[in-house]
Amino acid sequence: MCGITAYIGYRDAYPIIINGLKRLEYRGYDSAGIMLYDGESINLSKTKGKVSILENKIKEEISDSGVIGIGHTRWATHGIPNDINSHPHISQSGNLAIVHNGIIENYSALKHELIDRGYSFQSETDTEVLINLIEEIKKTEDVKLGKAVQIALNQVIGAYAIAVFDKEKPDEMIVAKLGSPIAIGIGKDNQEFFIASDASPFIEYTKDAIYLEDGEMAIIKKGREISIRKLKDDSLIDANVQELQLNLEQIEKGGYEHFMLKEIHEQPQAIIDTLRGRLLTDKGIIKISGLENNMKRFLNAERIIIVACGTSWHAGLVAEYIFEDFARIPVEVEYASEFRYRNPIITEKDIVIAISQSGETADTLAAIKLAKSKGAFVFGVCNVVGSSIARENDSGVYTHAGPEIGVASTKAFTTQITVLTLIALRLSRAKGTMTSADYRLYLQELELIPKKIKKVLETDEHIKAIAKKYLLSTNCLYLGRGYNFPVALEGALKLKEISYIHAEGYPAAEMKHGPIALIDDRMPVIVIATSKGHYEKVVSNIQEIKSRSGKIIAVVTEGDTAVREIADHVIEVPDTEEALTPLLTTIPLQLLSYHIAVMRDCNVDQPRNLAKSVTVE
Ligand code: AGP
Repeated sequence: MCGITAYIGYRDAYPIIINGLKRLEYRGYDSAGIMLYDGESINLSKTKGKVSILENKIKEEISDSGVIGIGHTRWATHGIPNDINSHPHISQSGNLAIVHNGIIENYSALKHELIDRGYSFQSETDTEVLINLIEEIKKTEDVKLGKAVQIALNQVIGAYAIAVFDKEKPDEMIVAKLGSPIAIGIGKDNQEFFIASDASPFIEYTKDAIYLEDGEMAIIKKGREISIRKLKDDSLIDANVQELQLNLEQIEKGGYEHFMLKEIHEQPQAIIDTLRGRLLTDKGIIKISGLENNMKRFLNAERIIIVACGTSWHAGLVAEYIFEDFARIPVEVEYASEFRYRNPIITEKDIVIAISQSGETADTLAAIKLAKSKGAFVFGVCNVVGSSIARENDSGVYTHAGPEIGVASTKAFTTQITVLTLIALRLSRAKGTMTSADYRLYLQELELIPKKIKKVLETDEHIKAIAKKYLLSTNCLYLGRGYNFPVALEGALKLKEISYIHAEGYPAAEMKHGPIALIDDRMPVIVIATSKGHYEKVVSNIQEIKSRSGKIIAVVTEGDTAVREIADHVIEVPDTEEALTPLLTTIPLQLLSYHIAVMRDCNVDQPRNLAKSVTVE
């Protein structure tokens, strides 16, 4: 997830763009850059790091004059964060400039074709390929920029929100969208236009905005009406100008009250972005380059050791069930903080999978170094490109969750499970431990998960009503079996860390071995009782709780009747394969803890005593 912004009008472009980038930094802050056109030349300045670093660098590097410009703050997906990979990118001729938010999946094939046509590339990014593709088409087809952009975008596969500038047509800007957002602010009498990933960069200049839809492009000319066209067939579309009601803070949070709530609701898109280019259901294949390049190691591995902390450790527990069930590879899941100090037995035959959203957790980083020192191969699952853990790993795969601002991890957890499920499925195929029929079934079911999560998110009001009844609780018990035991742990952690209510997660069957002594009419018990996975046994656990006056909040499969009769509250999730249920059952638990914390006036995004990334031991 990156932030793009651009301006074409009569004011100095620089202050508008630099301030706009500061407001978009919540979308990514690995690197930043600006291109300004001063009437004669394209002036470009870009740097690794935050916008404040760019602000200092620009003063030394370029003239900040010009009434047209584009800017970008990057969340790296291709190519590590460094100066050369930062946007904007300039075409080989030096005439075209682009900023891009998204992923071009087929950039490698396009890049090779352009190299064969004499193009050379400075960066590792997919975006530099796109701007040179546009240049090549403009030249060979002898068409204007708008047409060249349209032809190029019909050749790319992936997601994009782009703003493109041509030095030879300096009173024009072309923008286009598929899968990533673009807002266009319209100034008085069309004398100026503001383009950005959301309205935060221009909300004080105009409240009139157009939000492009997927597959649309806009040709923006100073002093003229915007022309909006469909990329597919070039048909003209009426501009739908909205009058914005949001204030700046609401825009940054996407209209949600907290980043955590926004990120809970971003999960369908985060999973779509994480699956993109990797889950190819129509071809019946899974493609993860880091895994393919090390397939032999994985197939010969005697054991997989997963090291992580907190929520990432819970994702590792889900992975243990999935890897052993699908690929029949022994898995051990370790708290990184324990693993690093207990002198563990590690051999060259071990693969260590390190899971970390931030890629900066000190204990996980130390566990990786220990494993490597003992000869293990380390494969990382990270959300931050170029992070310390990502660089320390021997190989790995990124979740494409986008920046996770809320301290309580939500979309990182579900995208970690998504990636780990892809890996386990791919290994099961390579080892022949899963029938092709089951394999295809899982690919199809995995593709449906984002839609099913959306359905669960629609029950938010119902969950909020339940939260109201239990916000004064002092203790909570979370129970789950099988794949949903780790979800019970994760649900308890969410409640603890943002509402400060003590909560414990337990395997449901373990209740009889002690925790049942805690049950009384003041103890809410959240039970995950989906139809697949020891359902009858969980129902009897619920009856045991009921008979001791425990209050039961059950997460059930849509249409469930048995649990509905005995539980105090039920929250329904759509049916899916058992191994995929954690991706759905965790959503109500995230929302329940969020609403309880808000009702308790807790600081949901920055809970007391916590940090987003625990870089100390
Ligand atoms: C989870 O909500 C917490 N923020 C915390 O447990 C977190 O998962 C843990 O610190 C690990 O962080 P990482 O994934 O960035 O390594």
